[in-house]
Amino acid sequence: MVNQRGHHHLQSSRHRKSSFFSISLYVILIFALSIFTFMLYSKDALEDEYGMPLLRVEKPSINKLLDGQLWQTPSSLGLRQCVKPTSKYRATPVSEHYMTVKTNGGLNQMRTGVTDMVAVARIMNATLVIPQLDKSSFWQDSSTFSNIFDEPHFIKSLGKDVRIVKEIPKELESLPRARKHFSSWAGLGYYEEMTVLWKEYQVIHVVKSDSRLANNDLPLDIQRLRCRALYHALRFSPSIESLGKKLVERLRSRAQRYIALHLRYEKDMLSFTGCTYGLTVAESEELRIMREKTSHWKVKNINSTEQREAGLCPLTPKEVGIFLKALGYPPSTLIYLAAGEIYGGDTHLSELTSRFPNIVSEEMLASTEELKDFSNHASAALDYIVSIESDIFVPSYSGNMARAVEGHRRFLGHRKTINPDRKSLVQLFDKMEAGQLEESSLSPPVLQLHRKRFGGPRRRGSGPPGIKGRVRLRLEESFYQNPFPECICNS
Ligand SMILES: *[C@@H]1O[C@H](CO)[C@@H](O)[C@H](O)[C@H]1NC(C)=O
Ligand SMILES: *[C@@H]1O[C@H](CO)[C@@H](O)[C@H](O)[C@H]1NC(C)=O
Repeated sequence: MVNQRGHHHLQSSRHRKSSFFSISLYVILIFALSIFTFMLYSKDALEDEYGMPLLRVEKPSINKLLDGQLWQTPSSLGLRQCVKPTSKYRATPVSEHYMTVKTNGGLNQMRTGVTDMVAVARIMNATLVIPQLDKSSFWQDSSTFSNIFDEPHFIKSLGKDVRIVKEIPKELESLPRARKHFSSWAGLGYYEEMTVLWKEYQVIHVVKSDSRLANNDLPLDIQRLRCRALYHALRFSPSIESLGKKLVERLRSRAQRYIALHLRYEKDMLSFTGCTYGLTVAESEELRIMREKTSHWKVKNINSTEQREAGLCPLTPKEVGIFLKALGYPPSTLIYLAAGEIYGGDTHLSELTSRFPNIVSEEMLASTEELKDFSNHASAALDYIVSIESDIFVPSYSGNMARAVEGHRRFLGHRKTINPDRKSLVQLFDKMEAGQLEESSLSPPVLQLHRKRFGGPRRRGSGPPGIKGRVRLRLEESFYQNPFPECICNS
């Protein structure tokens, strides 16, 4: 992928500017120091107002003032990616058992699903046939695997892990297959038991690929294989990689730095989550009808207010604008909009662009000609690349893309990801709406809430305490959101 080179390029260009900065740094520091003193002085008042203790942040005011702080990458504490197999890892078994896979979901759900299937094929000692992509879902996309991914690289790169073939051998095509709907978040034992299927069948067909493998309690070599598969083997096709790189270059020619904003304010997401805050009655009704009609969305009756208060709604464009401003980003900040079609188009987006006019999207950076052959999945892949390469990634909702990009950025050296604390933010926004809080006094509480949400190193969460059994498996933090400790290590 383009990431490593892009990163180094950025570092060196920062270096050249350093003499200019050192001149102005002295002046800024004195200014910052006086504000810092003021902030400490006004600290008590803030504590009372929000009922939350404002711990002494090391550099509270500098966070707001110094450009360098706003854009600074969290320290990796000497940690780096580690994906090499252990000494016990044996060579790829040449298996005459085959596994065919039908993936499901959007691009990122399919990517992690394919990755899980690589691991499952390894556990079950199967030869993996290049998976079929989802053609039937919301995304309505006819792309094949090789339209989106670099297929030869995928096969070759995993050569020491799993045998992968383009197609099932002709003589096996007509054999009966075991059609399997594997259990979600299944562990090693489950798949070892599944190998009994080989006694009867030479081919297993997996009908659904998402979330088929547990996040935790798997052998280190399986976890590392997941990282090799997702971060090294499953790169995008050359035409996608090449246009993605061009988009990043075009952004860098507009501004030295940019934020990639995954604004998940799209019709399907709002309908699925039942989040209608700030929408008209007609819009809310349209979303309700869509949910009613989508048979695989099981929850139909949703109270939008409760949903939002629980922190389960995507931030609205307006809320994102207020949030970024409170964090201290100036209106001139270049923002890349990684998103599908924003619900309601400009009527809703304008509440963000009024605060941050310098917003660009894929369609604004690339010509119609360049995007001519790009399907929905390919266009999502471009957003992915630009998001990985960005100086800062901000997701407005914790969906598959947000998790995948955050995890990948951690893997590449804890690139800054700002993860909004939606539940707490909504409380602040509502106080603002009620006139109990000025937008101008939002910065201290917002900075305070997000001190530890900048994508710095931490172990993957094990889920809420006290919950056991199968329910727990789906509540654990996703392996793909944070592959630490297995694929991010000290040496
Ligand atoms: C893998 O499967 C093949 C049959 O296709 C078998 O001959 C071989 O022993 C198996 N290897 C392992 C390590 O289970
Ligand atoms: C939704 O929940 C809120 C808060 O619990 C409540 O006040 C409101 O009446 C509920 N709305 C509906 C339509 O049930």
